[in-house]
Amino acid sequence: ENDATVSIVVVGASGDLAKKKIFPALFSLFYEDCLPEHFTIHGYARSKMTDAELRNMVSETLTCRIDKRVSRVEKMDQFLKRCFYHSGQYDSMQNFVELDRKMKQHEGGRVSNRLFYLSIPPNIFIDAVRCASMSASSGNGWTRVIVEKPFGRDSESSAALTKSLKQYLEEDQIFRIDHYLGKELVENLSVLRFSNLIFEPLWSRQYIRNVQLIFSEDFGTEGRGGYFDNYGIIRDIMQNHLLQILALFAMETPVSLDAEDIRNEKVKVLRSMRPLTLDDVVIGQYKSHTKGGTSFPAYTDDKTVPKGSLTPTFAAAALFIDNSRWDGVPFLMKAGKALHNKRAEIRVQFRHVPGNLYNRNLGTGLDRATNELVIRVQPDEAIYLKINNKVPGLGMRLDRSNLNLHYAARYSKEIPDAYERLLLDAIGGERRLFIRSDELDAAWALFTPLLKELEEKKITPECYPYGSRGPIGAHYLAARYNVRWGDLGVEQ
Ligand code: BG6
Repeated sequence: ENDATVSIVVVGASGDLAKKKIFPALFSLFYEDCLPEHFTIHGYARSKMTDAELRNMVSETLTCRIDKRVSRVEKMDQFLKRCFYHSGQYDSMQNFVELDRKMKQHEGGRVSNRLFYLSIPPNIFIDAVRCASMSASSGNGWTRVIVEKPFGRDSESSAALTKSLKQYLEEDQIFRIDHYLGKELVENLSVLRFSNLIFEPLWSRQYIRNVQLIFSEDFGTEGRGGYFDNYGIIRDIMQNHLLQILALFAMETPVSLDAEDIRNEKVKVLRSMRPLTLDDVVIGQYKSHTKGGTSFPAYTDDKTVPKGSLTPTFAAAALFIDNSRWDGVPFLMKAGKALHNKRAEIRVQFRHVPGNLYNRNLGTGLDRATNELVIRVQPDEAIYLKINNKVPGLGMRLDRSNLNLHYAARYSKEIPDAYERLLLDAIGGERRLFIRSDELDAAWALFTPLLKELEEKKITPECYPYGSRGPIGAHYLAARYNVRWGDLGVEQ
């Protein structure tokens, strides 16, 4: 086994994702000595490029966490020597046969494992899978394929995609990536829940009033409008990233930490959820805004976005899990682009302390005693619990304070990028953090009726200014469930 080689093929090597995430992640893994001894990396794309040009491109985009230490330069040279480029069409068997030949030369007769990372648009996806599996699969080791979303745009197209994929690959060869599952604090969710005594007993409708899953970015779709307009924020963020976090948050205790056991629990909770309805959703789209002399564009100012597009760049939704643990607890999601900040967090708001003796001593803004747990996925990772505390002094006044686990203060080691963990897992055959096809089906089943209705009825999104907190409608939606977004007591 140790003598086996792994050939990693980045299909779509000149694309954005490859440059920004995949190559840097591979380099970080190499830098940390996490890659197998014998490995090579092959960029594959249509444009003509030499090995040297690819190496140059890769070296310029290593924006990862590794700084400019001396050893980095040396390591980088060693890494680049293992990178090769092959130019070819995505639907050409012949070109993939040539790739296969090249990989064989480097594999030198050892057991050859092959990992294809498909970082290409959906319309050429299946062509590439067909060619890779038929002409460039490993003859004596494993062949795995990492695929990126979009996995279709509704239940039907997703099922069709899965069906086509399975013509060429077994389910256990398919690694559907949701990079949020590779984020440190998302992985930590299960540790927090199942490895501490104090959270799990409170983790239900009995003590939790609502859960909020919030994603915001402080920039628009600049440059990505072509892709984005066909999908919108619900498909881009909610149906995958936020829903995956919700599943990990709300699932029952798995039998073990095995991938299948965890994924079984995730599917179960997803299948206990009510499909979304129009009533429980607010959509928005950002419009231009001028601030301090700088003007920020509207979504529809993007040249790649069709005029009059109704695609949402913001959405808020209330979701419900109809099982005994979560009956009646609103899970509120909010996701948006071009908002006032960049953040991803989970907020758990607990019920009020019944018959609280100290109600009258609460400070301003604190109407009733309650607690809130916040898991800040990014930026500046933290887990903090808001508790009521006596303000020191002779009087008896309470205020809310944080018991704060601030990662930067507690851990000196840098946090690896999500793609590093996921690539390492794919190489190691660990499927825990990848999406199984029945999970994907369950996720689409929740959102498909809503997405269809939005499109059929041509629902117009509410406008919100670039850089704002999003449309007012999101507040009304939350208010309906007695929820205030963000910090309890202090509006965020
Ligand atoms: C991607 C979405 O999946 O996630 C993008 O397609 C989004 O629209 C990105 O910007 C956010 O990822 P991260 O890791 O930067 O929060």
